[in-house]
Amino acid sequence: MDYEKYLNSNVKNIPISGIRLVNNWPSKIPQSSQIKLNIGQPDLDTPEFIKEATIEALRFNQTRYTDSMGSLQVREAICEFLKRKQNLLYSPDEILVTAGGQSAIFASLKAILSPGDNVVIPFPSYPPYINAIKYNKAKIIPLKTVLADNFDIPLKQLKEILEYTQIKALLIISPGNPTGVLTSHKTQLELVKLASEFDFLLISDEIYNQIVYTAKSYQSLSQVNEARERTIIIQSFSKMLSMCGFRIGFIAAPKPLIDQIKVIHHTMNICASSIAQYAVYKTLTDPQKMDEAITMTCQTYRERKSQCVSYLEENPHIEVREPQGAFYLFPRVPNINMTDFAKWFKYQYGVLTVPGAYFSIPEFSEHNEYIRLCFTEKIELLRTGLQRFNEALGIFIRKESR
Ligand SMILES: Cc1ncc(COP(=O)(O)O)c(C=O)c1O
Repeated sequence: MDYEKYLNSNVKNIPISGIRLVNNWPSKIPQSSQIKLNIGQPDLDTPEFIKEATIEALRFNQTRYTDSMGSLQVREAICEFLKRKQNLLYSPDEILVTAGGQSAIFASLKAILSPGDNVVIPFPSYPPYINAIKYNKAKIIPLKTVLADNFDIPLKQLKEILEYTQIKALLIISPGNPTGVLTSHKTQLELVKLASEFDFLLISDEIYNQIVYTAKSYQSLSQVNEARERTIIIQSFSKMLSMCGFRIGFIAAPKPLIDQIKVIHHTMNICASSIAQYAVYKTLTDPQKMDEAITMTCQTYRERKSQCVSYLEENPHIEVREPQGAFYLFPRVPNINMTDFAKWFKYQYGVLTVPGAYFSIPEFSEHNEYIRLCFTEKIELLRTGLQRFNEALGIFIRKESR
């Protein structure tokens, strides 16, 4: 049977995120001996008190649908969390509990984008945004950011675009995946000013905002004057509390936007998992245990980050900056095709990494000189992985220059 003809012609040619494709590349190293630095999945276990709360959810029969928005008690607890951590004031009807950040992204974009709408994305970026925009037949207007400028958004270029093009939204991920960079306060102010002047929405993916290594406290885009009314915050408990498999996150946005996003979310999910919602409710209402767990998580990644950066800095071929948040290193190796390297590296050494090109578009060929390495493995494994990386890169560069 010819199934092709049944598939949505707009969707069938859009490939899955390259991050997953790396798993299918061949390797002469058996799978059990491979080192996976490709997936941003915390190796840390979910904290015990959250596991207990999850078991309690089952004992208390928290296994029914909740309100589509999420149970009122969890949304109230989320409002309290936003106020406590970032002094953000939201009411429960401005919060939508979702099946992780990923479904928050999809539902938000589906709710706001019509075919032909323009969305500005600074690249490199998190690939599922690209797919979600394409599914809606909207257009991506790309901005190139580079390591030499600390991946700062090129505001001059953005202004030029805005002079001639009406955009629906601009996407910011801070701390960034794959860059680990925080959008500076100065840039935030500029972006918000431009959003008001040229009338567009800001989508602010803040899912890594509890994993930050700078002395200054994290500033949500929504804290900037006038931003709140045009910002959709994407949040998730996956990374901050090592809860990826719970599939739970939320959106904070003005009510008219939430009301529309809710329709998409309801159609896809009815509601987020009631068991995960209960676990999150118990977590948020025990701020001391929650903060302890986040501090431990952050400390673990901070130590790994410093060691990993030192390893990479030993390599003369590499340009690297210390990430300010999240758990990704995004070094550059000038004039080397890192997609070819990553494939060869996995084949020869059994270490999985993601080429920078997979977070970008072909026009920005410089991003092919980058590679993403996650420090979501135990330090011993990271050490071995990065030793192999340094050794392999030397051999690969010599091989290429012959
Ligand atoms: C920037 C960013 N947003 C959203 C997500 C989705 O995460 P989750 O659906 O587990 O909350 C990820 C996952 O890696 C991410 O890196």
